Order: sequence, then C-alpha cells, then structure tokens
Amino acid sequence: MLKQGSKTKHDCGPAAEKVGRAVALCADAVDEQSYTGREQIFTELDHILAHSDPGEIDSVLDDPVFVAMREDVHSVRADYEYQREYVLAKEIIKAHNRAPARAFRSAEWYSQATHFEMQALVPYKPKRMLFVGSGPFPISPLSYMAEDPAVAVTCLERSADASKHAIEVAKVFGLDRLNMITADALEVTDYDNFDCVMVGLVVGTSDTDKNRIVEHFLRWVPNSTLLTFRTAVGSGRVIYPSIEPSRFGDAPHTELSDPPHESFTMIMLDRSSPRS
Ligand SMILES: C[S@@+](CC[C@H](N)C(=O)[O-])C[C@H]1O[C@@H](n2cnc3c(N)ncnc32)[C@H](O)[C@@H]1O
Repeated sequence: MLKQGSKTKHDCGPAAEKVGRAVALCADAVDEQSYTGREQIFTELDHILAHSDPGEIDSVLDDPVFVAMREDVHSVRADYEYQREYVLAKEIIKAHNRAPARAFRSAEWYSQATHFEMQALVPYKPKRMLFVGSGPFPISPLSYMAEDPAVAVTCLERSADASKHAIEVAKVFGLDRLNMITADALEVTDYDNFDCVMVGLVVGTSDTDKNRIVEHFLRWVPNSTLLTFRTAVGSGRVIYPSIEPSRFGDAPHTELSDPPHESFTMIMLDRSSPRS
C-alpha cells in the first residue's frame, strides 16, 4: 500500500500532488475491505477526479502503479457501488419514503445521466426497455419510468438480494410496475421482448469480462432492438470500465458526447437499418 503522500514520478507542484494522491487513494481502495473505509476513500477520490483537468487524469491513467491495479480498482468500485446501494435501499424501505434517496451523494449525478440518456432515446420511442445491472437501488430504471410512464421497464439483475430490495424500493417510489428478471445476463439469450436493451456501466469490470458482455449482447440482441452500453469517459476511466467505440467496426453506432455528468456516457447501436 502506498503511504499517505508517498512520492510518485509526478513530484513537482500541486498537479503532481493531486495525481499522486489520486493514485494513492486507488491503492488504498483496493486494500480496503470495509464499506465505511471505502466510502471515505471514494468520496475523496471522486472529489479529486471531479476537480482534475484532462492532463491530470491522463497522468493518473498512465501512472505505472495505477496501470498495474486498474482492473482491481474497477472491480472494487463496482463492489462499493453495490454496497452503498444496498445500505441506501434498506434505509428507503425502513423509512418507507424517498428521503434517504435525496440525501444520496450521487443523486444529482444519476438524475443528470438518466435525463441525458432519455433525451437521446426520444427519436427511437422505446416502449419496452430492459436495463441490465439494476442493483439494489435501481435509480436508472425508476428514472426512465418516471420520465416516460408509457414505457414498460424491466431490470435484469444477477443478485437475488438486489432484485428483492429493488422491487421494494420501486414500491416506495410508487413505481411498482417495475419488472424484474433475476439472472446473470450471460445466461440470458432471449431479448426479443425488448425494443431497447441498456447495459449498465459496471456489468463486466475487467477487460475480459467487458469483452464477453459486449460480444454476448451483440450476439443475442436482435438487430431490430436498440442496444446501448454505458461506458466510462474522462475522469470516470479511473474508477469505471470503458468500451472502445471502434470495436463496433462499421455497425451503426454513436457515442454520445458531452455528458453533463461527465464520467460516463452511452454508446448506442442501431442495427435496424441495413448497412449502407
Ligand atoms: C450497483 S448497480 C449500479 C446501477 C445503478 N443501480 C443504476 O440504477 O444505474 C450494478 C449491478 O449490476 C449487477 N450486475 C453486474 N454484472 C451483471 C451481470 N453479468 N448480469 C446481471 N447483473 C449484473 C450487479 O449485481 C449490481 O447489482
């Protein structure tokens, strides 16, 4: 574990301090087992990343210490996101109201993200959406339902415990029309019921897993169905996995630019129209 303030190759000036601190926090996060410890580490790291310029972010991404632990950081971040949602879902269910969700430090971030995504989906008029990787606090699927009540939203979640909590949270939000499929997405091959399949950011955290996930959905989601993948961009690449748009070759795809929430965006694949 890198000690507090330990020196790295960036040891000249505030930018170097910031980069060194971000790399040290990533190392701490990988070592930290407790939820409260991770909450503290990631709260500080998220603040540093949100206040870093592209050059500083590239310095973190290029740092040999970070490069060696990048996939571990992404995996620990995914676990942490699950844990914090689990804690939040329990609070919402116990309170039987939304107040705990308003206090959630990422509430505004998620609301910007889901509004941005729904705007991008307007031309496609989806009516049967599937959100893959919904978690114990399914804020994205619930936001889509709230934004367009005519849309039928189904979640695909591999954790039975997460599914159970998600359904309870949806009831508290007054959105008990939320459908739930509890299975690992890699075991599901029938997506014919959906006109839009959205794959979450932390579905597949290692490069190998992410490749398998992308190949799986390209293989089994019909061309008539809009397929989207959340992918990390900018400072988000330090803590979340990203998908290279070029991997989709000449399949019609768009990576949405300038996401207001900055750390991730969406790649949309519309394979319904025959290739020109
Ligand atoms: C923590 S949530 C984050 C999403 C957030 N709740 C939202 O609404 O945008 C991510 C969830 O993805 C689930 N997940 C990861 N890989 C999966 C897979 N292969 N199949 C199904 N669910 C998966 C995890 O179990 C976790 O609950």
